[in-house]
Amino acid sequence: MKILVTGKNGQLGRSIQKLISNYDDHEFTLAGREELDLSSSKSISKYFDTNPHFDVIINCAAYTAVDRAEEEEDLADEINHQAVKKIAELANSQNAKLIHISTDYVFDGKNESLYLESDNPNPINVYGKTKLLGEKAALEAMPNNAMIIRTSWVYSEFGNNFVKTMLKLGKERNEINVVSDQVGSPTYSSDLAKAILHIISNDNFNKKSFQTEIFHFSNLGETSWSDFAKEIFKLANLNCTVTPICTDQYPTPAIRPQNTTLSKEKITSHFRLQIPSWQQSLKECLNEIK
Ligand SMILES: NC(=O)c1ccc[n+]([C@@H]2O[C@H](COP(=O)([O-])OP(=O)(O)OC[C@H]3O[C@@H](n4cnc5c(N)ncnc54)[C@H](OP(=O)(O)O)[C@@H]3O)[C@@H](O)[C@H]2O)c1
Repeated sequence: MKILVTGKNGQLGRSIQKLISNYDDHEFTLAGREELDLSSSKSISKYFDTNPHFDVIINCAAYTAVDRAEEEEDLADEINHQAVKKIAELANSQNAKLIHISTDYVFDGKNESLYLESDNPNPINVYGKTKLLGEKAALEAMPNNAMIIRTSWVYSEFGNNFVKTMLKLGKERNEINVVSDQVGSPTYSSDLAKAILHIISNDNFNKKSFQTEIFHFSNLGETSWSDFAKEIFKLANLNCTVTPICTDQYPTPAIRPQNTTLSKEKITSHFRLQIPSWQQSLKECLNEIK
C-alpha cells in the first residue's frame, strides 16, 4: 500500500518513522510542513496534485499548542479543522482510507467514569473545539473508510513533552509543584504508532469499505499529572519531591478538562490490540531517552 504520513517531524510522525523499516511491504511517504503546509489550502491542493495516489493517509499533523490556540484560533482552525476537511475530501475522491488523530480534549472532563466513543463531546478550550470540528468534517466528508483515533497526554523521546520537561526540572530542582486534580491516561507515542501500523494490516481495516468510526487509544490505567511526575522521578532515580497542587494554583490561558480517561475497550476488541500499561511504557520511553 502507498501510505502518506503527515506531520513527519512531530512526536507521532517520528514514532511512525522509527518503525516503518519493519513494514517494507508498504511504501511510505512522509510529509512535513515544508512539503505540505496544512495552514494553506493551496499547499494542500498542490501537494495532492503533484503526488501520486495514496491508499492510506495517516494525518498526524496538528496545531497542538493548547495555550497558544486561545490567541490563534483562526490558525488552529485552519490546521485542525479546515485542513482535515480538505484532506478527507481528497482522500474520499481518491478512494484512499484515512486515519485521523484527535484528542481527549474534545471532552469537558466532567465524566466520573471512562470516556466512551459514544459520549457527547463538549470542548472547553479552543484547541479542543477546533479538533472536534476536524472530527466532524472528516465524518461528513468520509462517511466510509476513515478512522478517527482520539488519544491523550502524548509523550515520547522526541520533541517537547511532559516527560522531558519533568526530567529537565527534576535534575535542576529539589522540589516541584504539579497539578493533581487533572486525571487521564498518558500515551507513549511509540505505542500509538505501533497500534496504527497494526491496524492498517488488520482485516477490519483492509475491507473494501467500512463505516467511519471514532476509537479511543491511550496506554492502560489512569493517573494525575502529579502522580505521573512522581513515577518519572522514581524511574529516573531523580531526587525531586512532587508537591501536588490544584489547577487553580497553576492558571493557564486554556482551561483543561479534569478527567479525560479514555476507554480503550472498542479499539482493543475491534483490532485485537494489546496495550501496555502507562507505567510499563513510561519505563520503555525513559530507556529510549537514556
Ligand atoms: N501531544 C499531546 O499531548 C496530544 C494529546 C492528544 C491528542 N494529540 C493529537 O495527536 C496527534 C499527534 O500529536 P503530536 O504529539 O505528535 O504533536 P506534535 O509533536 O506537536 O506534532 C504536530 C506536527 O504537526 C505539524 N504541523 C503543525 N502545523 C502544521 C502546518 N501548518 N502544516 C503542516 N504540519 C504542521 C508540526 O510541524 P513542525 O514540526 O514543523 O512544527 C508537527 O510536526 C495530533 O493530532 C494531536 O492533536 C496530541
